Amino acid sequence: MSADRYQALANSALGGAVVKRLGLPAPPRLDRHEPGMPVVTGPVVFGEARGGRLREAVHEVMRSIGARLVDAKTAGDGDDRPAALVFDATGIDSTQRLRALYDFFHPTIASLKRNGRVVVLTTPAIEADSVGAATAQRAIEGFARSVAKEIGRYGSTAQLVEVAAGGEGAMESTLRFLLSARSAYVDGQAIHIQAADSVTVPEDWERPLAGRSAAVTGAARGIGEAIAETLAGQGAEVLCIDVPPAGEALAEVANRIGGTSLALDITDAGAPQRLADHIGERGGRIDVFVHNAGITRDRTIARMPPEGWDGVLEVNLSAQERINGALLEGELLGDDGRIASVSSVSGIAGNRGQTNYATSKAGVIGMVRALAPVLRERRVTVNAVAPGFIETKMTEAMPVGTREAGRRMNSLIQGGQPVDVAETIAWLVSPASGGVNGNVVRVCGQQLLGA
Ligand SMILES: NC(=O)c1ccc[n+]([C@@H]2O[C@H](COP(=O)([O-])OP(=O)(O)OC[C@H]3O[C@@H](n4cnc5c(N)ncnc54)[C@H](O)[C@@H]3O)[C@@H](O)[C@H]2O)c1
Repeated sequence: MSADRYQALANSALGGAVVKRLGLPAPPRLDRHEPGMPVVTGPVVFGEARGGRLREAVHEVMRSIGARLVDAKTAGDGDDRPAALVFDATGIDSTQRLRALYDFFHPTIASLKRNGRVVVLTTPAIEADSVGAATAQRAIEGFARSVAKEIGRYGSTAQLVEVAAGGEGAMESTLRFLLSARSAYVDGQAIHIQAADSVTVPEDWERPLAGRSAAVTGAARGIGEAIAETLAGQGAEVLCIDVPPAGEALAEVANRIGGTSLALDITDAGAPQRLADHIGERGGRIDVFVHNAGITRDRTIARMPPEGWDGVLEVNLSAQERINGALLEGELLGDDGRIASVSSVSGIAGNRGQTNYATSKAGVIGMVRALAPVLRERRVTVNAVAPGFIETKMTEAMPVGTREAGRRMNSLIQGGQPVDVAETIAWLVSPASGGVNGNVVRVCGQQLLGA
């Protein structure tokens, strides 16, 4: 880093905070999933507030994943330290009873292994029986997000999972994901599980997408390539889509993962029809559609040329809307169909120089939220991921100060990998994730931006 750049960084508001943070411990090494790895690599401590409703359902999931449940008092040390702490907080019906969180986590949190997992289960405030219970259930979100900030330096994460009435039987895919190394860079999130009638338990949890077809846009490189690879690795037959100039790289990805490719600019007027025809020729249905293709054309609003605005809105948002329209009109999505979109933390927090990009990415969130209840009636789900700083060509090209800030200003003190976004998408599009609908899950290591 050159002296000038460093000075500029240290004197900027964002950079100053980064420099201060550089005194923190080295970024932890994050474990990532490898074939054959168990969901949890040590005992799980389960705790509950009196009157909770999820004990049975959690125990069933723990049996299914082969986890060894231990009591908080007998949690071991050394290699036998707990790999996860799971707390059913649904019984907390008044703010006085929030003390149950302290009573469980105060004595146990220090025993959590590195790369450990904390999951706190709640009831959506809207479903609580009283104002007091709703207040208490909502309060727990602040607790979970703060725990995440305390344990991130050890590579550990904490999440909140809100389980709606009727969603008890739909938790497994989400708990598996959150407890495992697959969720390495997902941190401090609140995930909602709805009552679900489209949950299909896979025969093999390593390959939940076996027999399913999937399409991924922007699959020639970066995050899209990782998504295509991960979905194929989990058993899907993947159609890789990207612009014609990226055709060679696209074909290479498709060949490597045993999929097929389609050179298509998704913004072309005829693109939805071409896609529909293509799907029609290959069996008529697609089970999973992943909208990943995206571009940036950063400029402040005053300096932005009109094509910079139009191009970004077209690729990142309008093309997705048109493709979704074609998929739904043509009934091209199979039973238990899944749509997943790649948004961005910029779409949540806003970002200087990205009025166009943040508008498009916030629009994706709006689209997902509005479509979710409509698609539910067709047993189809739609969700989004919002990546933070992911190590790709896009972030490689950033100025060094901004890049360093992006990397460090999160609870895990590092950037994520494309595979982290890919694993998150794979969980959302799994046939077992029928209870996860209309969620926007950040893959950002709990980035401070827009937190
Ligand atoms: N890298 C990050 O840190 C980050 C952070 C947040 C969100 N994202 C989002 O993740 C997605 C993937 O980003 P990436 O970093 O892998 O970018 P990338 O530029 O490496 O890859 C994007 C791919 O999309 C393709 N594409 C662009 N326009 C297209 C079009 N009109 N039709 C078909 N394909 C098109 C490109 O050719 C390219 O292969 C994007 O939506 C991006 O906005 C990335």
